[in-house]
Amino acid sequence: MPDGIPLDDIFEAAIREYGAERETLRPLAEARYDTSIFPTTGQYDWFSGQALYCLVRHRKPEAVVEISTSSGYSTLFMGLALRKNGKGRVDTFEMNARSAAAAERNFRRWGVDPFIRVHVGDARRSASADTGRDPGILFLDSLHTEAFAAWFIERFVLPAPADTLFHMHDIMPPDARVRKFGGPPFPPPRPDRLLLRLKNRLRGRAPSDEELPPGEKNLFPPDASSPLPAYDGNDTTEARFGNRLAARIGPDDKAYCHHLADRFPALAPREYDGRVIGRLDRAGRPMEWNESLWTRCGPLAAAYRSEAPGGKPG
Ligand SMILES: C[S@@+](CC[C@H](N)C(=O)[O-])C[C@H]1O[C@@H](n2cnc3c(N)ncnc32)[C@H](O)[C@@H]1O
Repeated sequence: MPDGIPLDDIFEAAIREYGAERETLRPLAEARYDTSIFPTTGQYDWFSGQALYCLVRHRKPEAVVEISTSSGYSTLFMGLALRKNGKGRVDTFEMNARSAAAAERNFRRWGVDPFIRVHVGDARRSASADTGRDPGILFLDSLHTEAFAAWFIERFVLPAPADTLFHMHDIMPPDARVRKFGGPPFPPPRPDRLLLRLKNRLRGRAPSDEELPPGEKNLFPPDASSPLPAYDGNDTTEARFGNRLAARIGPDDKAYCHHLADRFPALAPREYDGRVIGRLDRAGRPMEWNESLWTRCGPLAAAYRSEAPGGKPG
């Protein structure tokens, strides 16, 4: 625990101090599924977005690195917090030029463009040696593969100060029990989906479909609380990698928003559950999953180095 404060307590303090500003975020939640504003994939659940805003307010970072932007939804929570802080900048990366253009429109629309620099192109090439020097927050929500996450960790996490906060999106705690689009059971992937997945992999693009074949997901049979089978919500190799690393990190240095959400009723974390697309709880009711893992760069770097057989070079 580098700065001696459990991560849960950091969330607690951030939300206590800045949760009252949450109404300024509501227009984002209201517009979340409006494709004329956010035309491309991604996005962020209501509790996770509020917590992100509060963390940025609380930590007052000079620099944030976000990969990737998509239409700018998650970036906007950070941009609004930086504007209120009166300082700091997000360097955000997006390889899809159409998404990046939509994001830039949104940053102007919400008046946060002075606090955000958009880099268009493959982040693995467009991140200059200077990007993310001494960052306060590193935000990963991009190509959800283990290889991409490993690149991000090597490029940004290993050189970062131990207290820098790291975020991974689209990851659920291993004990989660949820359903998606009515499954499991999941139908076998359609052949055209398999082809698309292969093409995406060759082009180095984000998978447009779940990456793990249904048989490889962690499936759980019906239990006493629901007659339906469930799974842990982890669909990608990145999520599995993230959980392997998280298992090596102590409880005070990691926090899953899926667990945190219901501990902060003042943020009305369930307010937008009814609008969510495709996400269900174990009983089949709509649910925002809050698919975020937060940790710190010091413990994450140590976990990463010890994860590979023989350890990673320091
Ligand atoms: C899940 S979305 C990001 C969602 C976004 N954070 C939001 O709140 O809406 C993932 C994005 O990563 C982008 N992407 C994938 N690989 C990338 C790369 N190598 N460099 C930059 N962007 C990349 C995709 O184009 C896609 O827009």
